[in-house]
Amino acid sequence: MRTPGTPPSSASSASNTANVLVIGTDTKTMGQIRETLGTEAALSNTATPFDDAMVVARRNRPDVVIAAFDVEFEEAIRVAQQIKQELPKTALVAIAQKADPDRIRAAMRAGYREYVVLPDDRELLRQAVHDSVFSDGPDDDAGEVVTVWGAKGGVGSTFVAVNLAAELSPVQRVCVLDLDFSMGDVAAMLDLDPQTTMADVFKNLQRLDERMLNGQMTIHPSKLHVLAQPKTLDHREEPNSDAVMRLLTTVAKSYQYVLLDCGSRLDEAAITAATVADRLILVSTPDVLSVKNAWRRLQLLERLGVDKKRISLVLNRVDKKNPLLTLSDIEQNLGRKVDAQLSDDRVAARAVNEGRLVREYDRRSQIAKDLEAFTGLVTDGEVTHEKKPSASIFASIFKLGG
Ligand SMILES: Nc1ncnc2c1ncn2[C@@H]1O[C@H](COP(=O)(O)OP(=O)(O)OP(=O)(O)O)[C@@H](O)[C@H]1O
Ligand SMILES: [Mg+2]
Repeated sequence: MRTPGTPPSSASSASNTANVLVIGTDTKTMGQIRETLGTEAALSNTATPFDDAMVVARRNRPDVVIAAFDVEFEEAIRVAQQIKQELPKTALVAIAQKADPDRIRAAMRAGYREYVVLPDDRELLRQAVHDSVFSDGPDDDAGEVVTVWGAKGGVGSTFVAVNLAAELSPVQRVCVLDLDFSMGDVAAMLDLDPQTTMADVFKNLQRLDERMLNGQMTIHPSKLHVLAQPKTLDHREEPNSDAVMRLLTTVAKSYQYVLLDCGSRLDEAAITAATVADRLILVSTPDVLSVKNAWRRLQLLERLGVDKKRISLVLNRVDKKNPLLTLSDIEQNLGRKVDAQLSDDRVAARAVNEGRLVREYDRRSQIAKDLEAFTGLVTDGEVTHEKKPSASIFASIFKLGG
């Protein structure tokens, strides 16, 4: 996820006491931090003002920086950027009076590893400080979070998430989380009958750790681990940003790849998943309505500050012999390259219908080959190339969405 690496850094690590620098908090919060951390941390009696933060940080080389993320949150973002550059081994923790989704996302984008609200998140703060000293850099081992987002409903986001995960699972520890709270098709696409689901995880979020999470997963014969949506839509409760962040942070510690199926939703869970993922796969089909909605999503992602290099655009159900829109039309209108294409193939529809993976159903099919090639998108790193948008027959349609 979009979090900095945090192996132990300063000399104090050797003594098992974390060297903590607190920035910009008021006296009451400072007291709560001291009380929470007790003897686990060495820290001053008063917080350091934002203006002096870098001078003190360079001198003390803290294991952890805890910064107030309230009124002066822009300062907290600036300091985080400098710390990440100059002291990349220092763990960053944002502390705030309340859990505001926009602020949580801003903090995560800036590189804060945790966002805590005291006194509720005492345990989280203690754990973050503890990890900075005792673990071998948890975030170095943290898995790659890949969000799959459909330009609109039905374009194949579940198909892509599930089959991409299956491509990766023979050699990696991979899981799929179904974050589509209205459709929830992952279990059906894999013919699974989950005994525990996303609803159980969110119900027990305060107690969630890696072990508990592992116990909640449903395991597919391909070794793919799945956290599915409940079968029914009764008692539906959608998680907020904070809850989704907790789930993702825990799951990324356990798996090398975490695939998130967000469907085409624009709710808090999907926006959070899109904002903090290491890679975002935007799935579109090659038709006007879908491409138009892909364009609207790209605009939204830009407004949310998501780095273009992290976004991969994938065209699903491509019929090269009989295209509704040509590749160059699509690229010109979106102002960027298409990173991968998946063929329109009856094998895909049949495999979905039978709850089977494409590669199990027919590994010699065109769609199986496309999916195999597509895996490189996730494993090879950044791929996006920009293209200059030009006026076209669709320009007026696209402008409607802006
Ligand atoms: N490459 C493909 N070739 C042929 N058919 C496909 C392909 N990809 C997906 N489909 C078909 O499209 C249907 C919808 O796919 P999927 O359920 O993955 O879409 P979705 O974007 O997750 O939809 P929803 O918005 O309902 O969550 C599938 O049932 C499958 O039959
Ligand atoms: Mg779906």
